[in-house]
Amino acid sequence: MREYEAGIIRTERRGSAVFIMHLSCGEIARTVTPGQFVQVRVCDGTDPFLRRTFSVYGSDPERGQIKLMVEIVGRGTELLSSVNRGECLNIIGPLGKGFHLDHAGSGSCILVAGGVGAAPLFFLSDSMADRQKNQAVFMIGARTAEIHRAFEGLFNEHVTVVKATDDGSLGYHGFVTGLLEEQVGSINPEVIYTCGPHPMMKAVAAVAHKAGIRCFISLEQRMACGIGACYGCAVPLTDGRMVRSCVEGPVFDADEVKW
Ligand SMILES: Cc1cc2nc3c(=O)[nH]c(=O)nc-3n(C[C@H](O)[C@H](O)[C@H](O)COP(=O)(O)OP(=O)(O)OC[C@H]3O[C@@H](n4cnc5c(N)ncnc54)[C@H](O)[C@@H]3O)c2cc1C
Ligand code: FES
Repeated sequence: MREYEAGIIRTERRGSAVFIMHLSCGEIARTVTPGQFVQVRVCDGTDPFLRRTFSVYGSDPERGQIKLMVEIVGRGTELLSSVNRGECLNIIGPLGKGFHLDHAGSGSCILVAGGVGAAPLFFLSDSMADRQKNQAVFMIGARTAEIHRAFEGLFNEHVTVVKATDDGSLGYHGFVTGLLEEQVGSINPEVIYTCGPHPMMKAVAAVAHKAGIRCFISLEQRMACGIGACYGCAVPLTDGRMVRSCVEGPVFDADEVKW
């Protein structure tokens, strides 16, 4: 892990609230694995003071580029959306422990995403496609069809995409966890990977546990330092330990976490 000045190659708007930022950062691109994240300083000054945390959405080691998929939710992400091409961003990474592709063996798997929680799962599904070993079903849930439009054209051809919306405006009407519950028996995956809001992942973990399927979650615990120094991201495990999500995670075996 090191600090870099990453050049902004381009920012691609994906609807009103989501953008994909392409950054030049050869060393991170060469070493990052799916599920790892970076800490980004969103402005030159001290407001906001803390770096913002983003999963790496994609990496191109040959070109030395990484991509972040960002949803604008507050001041930091709003500021980030207005940084221009050619400017540099101060980033630290790659951080944390990511997904282990070997958990899926060569069987099928289900990726379950809630909104922009899909970012690390896109990277994971592209890495699986490179290995050409796993059949993956990518289930994505969002409040409305708007977020799904941000994902259009981004899936690789090796995944089967199934969409859900809370309001029924696209695909399955209801939470993505309902969709998972309906289809898990027929897909019979070897493993489930998930990222999104905490209650969603808790429900995914429960479905997986009941079906006896191994499940890995990427916790989006709010982080301050991102490097293990502040203990602000501590999460309780079932064995009684409190661990730092930024160092021991953000990816955990769902059965390890005390929900
Ligand atoms: C490991 C990890 C990976 C992440 N990956 C991505 C990613 O790939 N793309 C992306 O868009 N976002 C990601 N996030 C969430 C992202 O860090 C926050 O959305 C961002 O820090 C908000 O900054 P802000 O200044 O715009 O909003 P703030 O003003 O800080 O907050 C605005 C709103 O966003 C909510 N929020 C803030 N932080 C989080 C968080 N960690 N999780 C959920 N809600 C939050 C707040 O509760 C508040 O309602 C990730 C977070 C973690 C911990
Ligand atoms: S964010 Fe500081 S220890 Fe994890």
